[in-house]
Amino acid sequence: MIVTIDGVAASGKSSVSSGVAQALGVPYVSSGLLYRAVTLLGLNAGADLADPSALLPLLSPVRLEPLASGNRVWNADHDLSADLHSTRVDGGVSTVAALPEIREWVDAQLRALPAPLVAEGRDMGTNVFPHAPHKFYLTASPRVRAERRARERPEDIPAIEAALTERDRQDTTQSAPAPDARIIDTGPLTLQGVIDTILNDLR
Ligand code: C5P
Repeated sequence: MIVTIDGVAASGKSSVSSGVAQALGVPYVSSGLLYRAVTLLGLNAGADLADPSALLPLLSPVRLEPLASGNRVWNADHDLSADLHSTRVDGGVSTVAALPEIREWVDAQLRALPAPLVAEGRDMGTNVFPHAPHKFYLTASPRVRAERRARERPEDIPAIEAALTERDRQDTTQSAPAPDARIIDTGPLTLQGVIDTILNDLR
């Protein structure tokens, strides 16, 4: 069984996916973490983030470890996970995610994982796992998302909202909901409320 949970930036996807996966007793995988890892490695190497031939050679030691409690991404034996949610990575990741060669690499990592799992991102239900039987798409207004994200970033709410809106714009191509996804506005719901909505739907 594969459950896909897609949605816009900071819609609560990771927390929701982790909660759903823990309730189901299966791992969850964040595809965004892989795009973030490619971005971080590119930035650290001084590579041009728009040039796949500069990025692909950096990726052979990269490995995703899916865990219900929170994924980890390793570069050989170095755990990159704590460095993937910086403003620096936020600013470059959409450039990297627009490259077909990088999307192919990420998709191959994800499709190699054994089911059951909860897969989270932008195009899990449309592109990576189109035959998944259970699909969800999370939305919320830019202000609500910025308020939530402000708890994790040093910038103020208007700056975060502007950056989120710009990232949504850059991610539009891969962010359409699957036609068979259930769309959930997380704005009026608590985290547990969103998790319960999904679990009820799965039952
Ligand atoms: O989910 P998260 O916000 O961490 O994703 C970071 C970035 O990775 C997104 O802004 C998007 O550019 C890219 N992404 C993507 N497709 C996915 C998951 C993430 O293009 N399935």
